[in-house]
Amino acid sequence: MQFKTRTHTCGELRESNIGESVVLNGWVDTRRDLGGLTFIEIRDRYGVTQIVFEPQFNEEAHNLAKDLRSEFVISVEGIVRKRPEGTEHSVYPTGNIDVMVNKLIVLNEAKTPPFQIKADLDTSEDLRLKYRFLDLRRPNLQNNLMMRHKLAQTARQYFDENSFMEIETPVLMKSTPEGARDFLVPSRIHRGKFYALPQSPQTYKQILMVSGFDRYFQIVKCFRDEDLRADRQPEFTQIDLEMSFIDQDDIMGIVEGFMKRAYKEIWKKDLELPLLRLTYATAMEKYGSDKPDLRFGLEMKTLNHVFQNTAFKVFQDQVQKKGIITGMVAPGCGDYTRNQLDGLTDFAKKAGAGGLIWMRVKEDGLEAPIAKFLTPDELKNIVSELDAKTGDLVFILTGPKDKTLSIMGTLRLEMARRLELIKKDAPPKLLWVTDFPLFEWDEETKRYYAMHHMFTSPNHDDIPLLDTDIASVKARAYDLVLNGSEVGGGSIRIHDSALQSKIFKTLGITDEEAEYRFGFLTNAFKYGAPPHGGFAFGFDRLVMIFAGENSIREVMAFPKTASGISLMDEAPSTVDETQLRELHIKIR
Ligand code: AMO
Repeated sequence: MQFKTRTHTCGELRESNIGESVVLNGWVDTRRDLGGLTFIEIRDRYGVTQIVFEPQFNEEAHNLAKDLRSEFVISVEGIVRKRPEGTEHSVYPTGNIDVMVNKLIVLNEAKTPPFQIKADLDTSEDLRLKYRFLDLRRPNLQNNLMMRHKLAQTARQYFDENSFMEIETPVLMKSTPEGARDFLVPSRIHRGKFYALPQSPQTYKQILMVSGFDRYFQIVKCFRDEDLRADRQPEFTQIDLEMSFIDQDDIMGIVEGFMKRAYKEIWKKDLELPLLRLTYATAMEKYGSDKPDLRFGLEMKTLNHVFQNTAFKVFQDQVQKKGIITGMVAPGCGDYTRNQLDGLTDFAKKAGAGGLIWMRVKEDGLEAPIAKFLTPDELKNIVSELDAKTGDLVFILTGPKDKTLSIMGTLRLEMARRLELIKKDAPPKLLWVTDFPLFEWDEETKRYYAMHHMFTSPNHDDIPLLDTDIASVKARAYDLVLNGSEVGGGSIRIHDSALQSKIFKTLGITDEEAEYRFGFLTNAFKYGAPPHGGFAFGFDRLVMIFAGENSIREVMAFPKTASGISLMDEAPSTVDETQLRELHIKIR
């Protein structure tokens, strides 16, 4: 049908337009019938405008309007007028005017939507994802995607200004699992062979450094076949960067500069630099996490020195085994009931603890089931070391170091949640975590893995430890943490083939395997590799936090469910027998 294209968007008209003849195109948002008049709010991406159908003004349009339902697509022509006194709507920027319609064209009808298109929607996420095209019409998702766009533009501008070149890297690559499982793509032409989708452009960006592109960046899709959570999707986006002839501080400086720009652009806030840096060891000891949330206190404290000569067997064992005894105060929780304490004990057990020691701080000392096993001095020292006050509750956990610290870290977050310590308007907390261990031990497979990835350089001074004490080798790696979420990470890379071979060996990768999997990279390094390092932001997580959301699904146009399904188009799906045959694949 012939229709006039809009003269204005639905968020544009103001009192200065009164008297003008205008055309609006958009969707029917809400409809009200009042005393023979029909009021419709017409919506597009820019806002809503009230349009009025009045029989005396135009009978034909008024009659046609009777059929309008939610989400019909319409075009209206009319005259802008000042709203009658008392009917203004101060929430909308267009709230002081409305449009008296003299021509209505229905461009498309719509089925009744399965949920209302409004901000505070109370419906299942599955239904929203199935009808994502409708969900995306809601103002909050429109704002989130707008913010995402803005942050992407900010990144492009910032990195360009700082001499970074945006270079695209392949999506079909060689399978070189970096930590998670690869998504594989079978080759039709090369029977029995597979491409992999990149978990990140890591190897390519390092090769670009060998090629002399000393400052690279890319806003890039990454793919990882891993268990999903609120902040994890099988495909996600990174702002990826790599630099040559630099040290760790140069990369951190560039990253901080971007965050400062983003704070200003998105939050209109000034970010004070340089950022706080915590070592991994300190972060673990004080917050039980390598991505500590510093928006609240509840600091943990190591108590091993208090129990150096204890007679209490449980603590004595851990002191001897170089395990840890860690304590934390829950302020004002001394009156927790037995039931509440049992609940928290269960919580700690679910997180992997053997049990949870708790103590009530009373006027005359500590009251606790284990108090009878401790000396008066020990009890006194617990209180003074933890700076506990009358009415507080003390938690103590003991066991192998990293595991126990991280369980207390989980309890710390849980107590912050229960005590509502993270206020909605709390200032954001951004920091670096540095000096990660190069390797981490996996109990299940009984071997070491690279904590970051295999191309991460060890601390120079720690190289000799590769032969004697690999657990204590530190990496030149750094993570960026915002409000308790890891929003990025990077490292200085190994650019020396001999050291790279040594790391492969330490990880139990044979020369042949290294050659087969990473030969292309190590070979490139033989032709003049500059010292280099880099970083990648988790773009979805950044947008999630900037938008104040709790899930990255809220800031992605078409996310997948926690089980990796796209409910709208029903991927993954079965395929034709012929397609499989062409790919030389048989489903068992
Ligand atoms: P890393 O694996 O730490 O480093 O990833 C960088 C950042 O990407 C985000 N992220 C994710 N976001 C959503 N869903 C996921 N499944 C997911 N996995 C990771 C996180 C993380 O901090 N190549 C290196 C970077 C480098 O060394 O330069 C890398 O990919 O916010």
